[in-house]
Amino acid sequence: MKREDLDALLKDMSIEEKIMQLVQIPGWSFEKDAAVTGIAENEATDKAKRLAGSILGVNGADKVKAIQEEYVKNHPHHIPMLFMLDVIHGHDTVFPCPLAQGATFDPEISRKGAAIQAKEAAADGIQVTFSPMVDLVRDARWGRVMESTGEDPYLNGEMAAAMVKGYQGDSISDKEHVAACVKHFAAYGAAEAGRDYNNCELSEYALRDQYLKGYNKAIDAGARLVMTSFNTLNGVPSSGNKWLMRDVLRKEMGFDGVLISDWGAIGEMVPWGFAEDLKEAAELAIKAGVDIDMCTESYAANLEELINSGEIKEELLDEAVMRILNLKNDLGLFEDPYHGACDERHKEIALSEESRNVARDAVRKSLVLLENREETLPLKDKKIAIIGPYAVEKKLHSSWALSLDPEKNVTLMEAAGEADKVSLYLGMNKAISADDKQNTIVRVAKGSTVLDNDTVIGNGEYHDDDFEETNERLYAEAMEVANWADTVVLCLGEDLGQSGESTSRADIMLPDIQMELFYGIRKNAKKLVTLIFTGRPLDLEHIPELSDALMICWRPGTEGGHGIWDVLSGIHSPQGKLPMSFPWVVGQAPIHYNAFNTGRPKPEEGPGDFTTRYLDCPNEARYPFGYGLTYSEFEISDIVLDKTSLKKEVPGSKKDKITASVKVKNSGLVPATQTMQLYLRDISASRVRPQMELKGFKKVRLFPGEEAEVAFEINEEMLRFWTIDNVYDSEKGKFKVFIGVDSATENEADFVLE
Ligand code: GLC
Repeated sequence: MKREDLDALLKDMSIEEKIMQLVQIPGWSFEKDAAVTGIAENEATDKAKRLAGSILGVNGADKVKAIQEEYVKNHPHHIPMLFMLDVIHGHDTVFPCPLAQGATFDPEISRKGAAIQAKEAAADGIQVTFSPMVDLVRDARWGRVMESTGEDPYLNGEMAAAMVKGYQGDSISDKEHVAACVKHFAAYGAAEAGRDYNNCELSEYALRDQYLKGYNKAIDAGARLVMTSFNTLNGVPSSGNKWLMRDVLRKEMGFDGVLISDWGAIGEMVPWGFAEDLKEAAELAIKAGVDIDMCTESYAANLEELINSGEIKEELLDEAVMRILNLKNDLGLFEDPYHGACDERHKEIALSEESRNVARDAVRKSLVLLENREETLPLKDKKIAIIGPYAVEKKLHSSWALSLDPEKNVTLMEAAGEADKVSLYLGMNKAISADDKQNTIVRVAKGSTVLDNDTVIGNGEYHDDDFEETNERLYAEAMEVANWADTVVLCLGEDLGQSGESTSRADIMLPDIQMELFYGIRKNAKKLVTLIFTGRPLDLEHIPELSDALMICWRPGTEGGHGIWDVLSGIHSPQGKLPMSFPWVVGQAPIHYNAFNTGRPKPEEGPGDFTTRYLDCPNEARYPFGYGLTYSEFEISDIVLDKTSLKKEVPGSKKDKITASVKVKNSGLVPATQTMQLYLRDISASRVRPQMELKGFKKVRLFPGEEAEVAFEINEEMLRFWTIDNVYDSEKGKFKVFIGVDSATENEADFVLE
């Protein structure tokens, strides 16, 4: 439709039609006799089904097309409905969870993954995905760190922009793309005590300098929607925060897309104590510029009265409706209400070999090798045991993978069994046959259940009547197999229900039943490789020092087993880097690398009396942001600067720059990829500045003995921050540049901004 046609359509719509365009109903509304959450009365349900502008949680091309056909036919102006779904890291082909994608430090792999997710979801009837989640996270107690790409504003921005480009392509009218929705705006990752739906106390300095940057990059990449967050920011719920939504998001960031509330968030302003009732909540939200009310009756039941009484202007309603109509128009829904949805095509493309290969590559690149003593990895022995619940567990995805078939996930056992020259056995069954002699023998034992009995997990509680008996049998078998093997690969991890929404944990250790298995295996194993499947950083207790090798596998998704076996077997070297600090203990949370130095930094040596320290724990993370080993060794030269001063102002539009470079040499024995990281530090400024901040990263793949130069450009924009004058600006003075393989690097050089 042309713009003028949309204007004419808006003019011709009744006020009821306009208000209902702002209402989103849950997918089950069209299930027989379903009650529509938050839209209580039956006639509201009928009205909502006739007029609601969007729906979330329905997929399946034929189902979507049937609902849409009926809806468009009955709608007074035949305006199509929007179908939205959380496609967070996979639809049919599930990619590593977003925190694992952050570990790849490879935006391109995330763009490719998002493009595949969009293609599968669009064929399946989806037009909008509630992704990327760009919340900056520092607190591993929060189960939703799994959905973010980590603790750094720059990395989050690069990954989020890539995902937006993958989802949306060059045009969202393209049938293989969907509109992206950046969430949760804003600063949900700073929720107090790591608990969902909680308050965030943030200075404007912290908000702007750390938390907003990632969202900004995603919006600059063209994201068509933004979702308000559940949290309050300094006591103001996001869905009613006029300053945050109109002044910051729309005016400063230039966002002119659709702003949708999170599920129920408008109505939740009442229990927050920010609105007396749903009518006031509706008024606050529409004035803040929230266009769509996700699953409450606030807008449906109150906007007309608010307009008729003059408490809100109809212009506010019209601007919201127009943004929604624009989105529908740009998706091409007025011409094709189904946006190309087609069951046959969906079946053709879902889980294609090409998609699986991209997912497999993403898994390989996401794995973070934390320990590898005496080059235990890659596997070299001929008698390998793969033990632990995650040796065989099909739930390799996350709680935000909603439409996959878990049976299509590839476990490590299955991947090993497919490998060349490997003979796979369950437990100690079957004597080794003659034709096995030349093969690597892999024996598998589950060893334990994932969870202890009666563990509370997201959406329920784990209970097994035969828990004791089962685990006794599993444990005994595992010890036998461990005894037999030359190397044990022990696969431990969180349950799928232990990370994601509403899964905050005050204890971030592995379940006791798995730690019992770990200590038993340690006693029996000649060599022990421990793999950790998790949606968050964990307190790893004594696992690191008691394992000969330790690798974080995250929630790896459909191709988990294949990608992990590719690395364990040495076909690929690991290259992942931590996107989020791993603490020693949960008591360190929230913890992050880009902290301030304080006025009394703890000295390298000694107890650090009367300095910033814990009596019982280091200040630093156990494994810092950006850390991860490869199978090779690298030598990094000192930093070379082509000059040591940068001009703040230069005539005309020309920008001054410094080139900082290092020589990187693969001094090991195998080809490997290293992720070089550029950090900057502002030594003295009108507000204290972080000890270091990531400003760039580059991957370099080198063969043994090969050397390459890695150069970064430093420009004045990279030095800007939210100054004491409350503007983004750089300030002249001294700076340090660091270039290394993680945020603990001490490879530094000095320069000044003049
Ligand atoms: C949930 C989540 C949000 C999700 C939305 C729709 O409560 O907070 O991330 O997109 O509801 O499912």
